[in-house]
Amino acid sequence: MSPAIPKTIGVVTAGGDCPGLNAVIRAVVKTAIGQYQMDAYGVEDGFQGFVENRFRKFSYTDVSGILDRGGTILGTSNRHNPFRFPRKARDEITFEDRSDEGIANLEALGIEALVCIGGDGTLSIARELKEKGVNVVGVPKTIDNDLAETDVTFGFDSAVSVATDAVDRLHTTAQSHHRVMVVEVMGRYAGWLALGAGIAGGGDVILIPEIPYRLEKICRKLWEREKGGSRFSIIVVAEGAKPEGGEMVVKKVIKDSPDTLRLGGVGKVIADEIEDATGTETRVTVLGHLQRGGSPTAFDRILATRFGTEAVNLIAKCDFGKMVGIRGQEIVPAEIEKAVEEQRLVPPDSSLVRTARSVGTSFGD
Ligand code: F6P
Repeated sequence: MSPAIPKTIGVVTAGGDCPGLNAVIRAVVKTAIGQYQMDAYGVEDGFQGFVENRFRKFSYTDVSGILDRGGTILGTSNRHNPFRFPRKARDEITFEDRSDEGIANLEALGIEALVCIGGDGTLSIARELKEKGVNVVGVPKTIDNDLAETDVTFGFDSAVSVATDAVDRLHTTAQSHHRVMVVEVMGRYAGWLALGAGIAGGGDVILIPEIPYRLEKICRKLWEREKGGSRFSIIVVAEGAKPEGGEMVVKKVIKDSPDTLRLGGVGKVIADEIEDATGTETRVTVLGHLQRGGSPTAFDRILATRFGTEAVNLIAKCDFGKMVGIRGQEIVPAEIEKAVEEQRLVPPDSSLVRTARSVGTSFGD
């Protein structure tokens, strides 16, 4: 006998926010209620609300008008892992496994399956919940685009679009002042965002974590451009970029966060070194969280909607423990374990890197 279709589902957004989260929530809730007559609950503030029993029952109309809205109407947290839940006592932080409390909260509401929308941290939690018998389905979110088992995550296209707009704007001011403009973008340990914005914005130098740079190579590129009559240059640098034989620049250590390191500052380091080495006036712009805010692009709205509806279709088939992904034009589910096995980094010989090199872009190597 096939298992009964879940009558009640939950949806949680966890980890850093990004454009498209509301589009997924909308798709999940509308599909669940409209197509399958399920009840749908949202979990407030990621896995913090999961443990603290903060659930919100959604009606169909609760999710109307949110398709184009950035952020998440549920709230999120990138500090709360139910298996390593932080407790602050005076200045000391300790961690405890409170996953059973969260699971009991699901059971009390009759929630039979949970859609977990997030990046590698969230999907690793989903994998652990799966091991404890929870019916989970993952939806891959991150502006870093570093998840395996999908060609692209939602949020990435919107972030690339923001960063590209910034590079376009920096071009005009760089040209006017004959300056080198360094723009630092996010992306954590992966260079997808820098690569995307660098190609789309026509960056002269793109620096990514996967291809360690050498200052003299960057300066050579700037000098060649100067010699060719271009008296300005744009350098797009990923926050995780590092020099050959050197380390990434860490901005902050956040002790109670599952991923304790926050990167940032490499743009300033490079800008100072370039100014010292070449004497050319150099400025740095750090885009930071601007890349995560605002409305999702049309591409991300469509992808998020496809992911959300397919997540519920999987639940309706009792096909749990999967992450929805996109391969080519098709939505293809993958085992959640495989999605979090390793980070998807930019292969240094990938066609995107070769494309950039073909149009004269330097990677500082
Ligand atoms: O993973 C998304 C991301 O925006 C990274 O690109 C960045 O390194 C990190 O999150 C920043 O985290 P926070 O919002 O905690 O500063």
